[in-house]
Amino acid sequence: MKEKTIQFKIQEFSSKDELNSLYQNLLNQAADAAHKAYAPYSSFFVGAAILLENNEIITGNNQENAAYPSGLCAERVALFYANAHYPQSKVKAIAITAFINNEIQVSEPIPPCGSCRQVILESQLRQNEPVTLILAGKNKIQVIEDASLLLPLHFDKEMLL
Ligand code: THU
Repeated sequence: MKEKTIQFKIQEFSSKDELNSLYQNLLNQAADAAHKAYAPYSSFFVGAAILLENNEIITGNNQENAAYPSGLCAERVALFYANAHYPQSKVKAIAITAFINNEIQVSEPIPPCGSCRQVILESQLRQNEPVTLILAGKNKIQVIEDASLLLPLHFDKEMLL
């Protein structure tokens, strides 16, 4: 039997002011996007802002549906838009935040769901460069500089060969 340890490096900040201006701007844009989400069923308004290599910022928010599983998370709305419009531009970072009832910002950062992690990681593997995640709650901000940390033992294209 062999044991393996997976290390998880995460930076935590107690305020947005501690971040560089690029990440602050990205978080502001994620918050603006969250307020435009379509979330009548959960009342959980999520926003994502993606920084591309060409300096373009793409935002997205969760889009719900009366047929619940037909909806999509903010992260994938933003990432699929970015990939559809700028397929050649690498994804540098993605900032995510959320508001309850479109009013109160979550106090703790919200990590992306499993499906979004898989999609974010696909970008990282496709471009062979890490994607930084910036997860913001009101009282805490977490920066993770490699999307694979959020999805150890992930499924990828090597397994399809
Ligand atoms: N949601 C996101 O947009 N991103 C996440 O990472 C987690 C959950 C959305 C999906 C659904 O519209 C609502 O939040 C409640 O789950």
